[in-house]
Amino acid sequence: MQPENLALPVGITLDRFILRNQEAFRYATGELSQLLRDIALAAKIVNREVNKAGLLNITGAYGHQNVQGEDQQKLDVVADIRFIRALTNGGEACAVVSEERHEMVDTGNHKGKYVVAIDPLDGSSNIDVNVSIGTIFSIYRRLSPVGTPAVMEDVIQPGNRQVAAGYILYGSSTMLVYTTGRGVNGFTYDHSLGEFFLSHTQIQVPKTGKIFSYNEGNLDDFPKLVQEYIASCRAQRFSSRYIGSLVADFHRNMLKGGVYLYPPTRKDPNGKLRLLYECFPLAFLVEQAGGMATDGRQRILDIALHDWHQRSPLYIGSEAMVQELISL
Ligand code: AHG
Ligand code: MN
Ligand code: MN
Repeated sequence: MQPENLALPVGITLDRFILRNQEAFRYATGELSQLLRDIALAAKIVNREVNKAGLLNITGAYGHQNVQGEDQQKLDVVADIRFIRALTNGGEACAVVSEERHEMVDTGNHKGKYVVAIDPLDGSSNIDVNVSIGTIFSIYRRLSPVGTPAVMEDVIQPGNRQVAAGYILYGSSTMLVYTTGRGVNGFTYDHSLGEFFLSHTQIQVPKTGKIFSYNEGNLDDFPKLVQEYIASCRAQRFSSRYIGSLVADFHRNMLKGGVYLYPPTRKDPNGKLRLLYECFPLAFLVEQAGGMATDGRQRILDIALHDWHQRSPLYIGSEAMVQELISL
């Protein structure tokens, strides 16, 4: 055996990757790099808490509803605090908007150039049952002058203005996947070293796939054409896979090829998923990986945002599958 094979390289850490790529980024001043590292730090802390939730007494309902009128879980609240604290202490984000809060958080970093939108914990219904959950984040450059407090317009930008977006998947392994508009890269967390390492370079969504993902309980409420599309997937004996955590469903489809559908329903006539916290970042990622995202009428990234908590139908994944759906 060659001596090198006794000690194989562990690979590139997320920190090193971010720094190496910094020069190629058009606003290469280092602040965005620092912001991404702050997010990675919060991700490690939330990962620890997700992993030990049953021991830390942070499972179950918190006893409040969030701004969406949904029951908050304790971990929703914990993750929200962890990310906001890391972004506040990091200094690069002047404001944060979170799915869990009514108000924009002014971090006090008025010199910060960026605003961040987060879904701190996605897949709340899976928290207590040891099924994959995630965090979704999205970064914009502020529009208001640096040195002043952030204003509403800073966080009411369309998805095509994102400078970076990504997610953390707390799954059978923990991964951080992100884009700054030059492809999508994935990093796997090594618990023993406390570092994310590059594991998935330049992810590409297969052009087509054989997986379709939707909540079947809602099928009878879907628009007729969506029902027809689903019937054609079934006729071709495609596999139906639905975890119920958007991040996890999206991640699987991105790696394997497939389409995720959350159409309008009677309960949620505008769809259930939130544009700013869920649809925009995943649409940015999927396009960077060669896939597509639409609300059935237009490209998700071009939808005008009027309200932080605005919802949208979402059809996202492999290009050929999304194309077929919209051709109907
Ligand atoms: P969140 O936990 O952040 O509120 O998001 C839940 C979302 C998303 O993760 C998932 O894909 C979807 O809700 C599942 O909705 P249904 O339970 O209606 O299928
Ligand atoms: Mn969510
Ligand atoms: Mn959430």
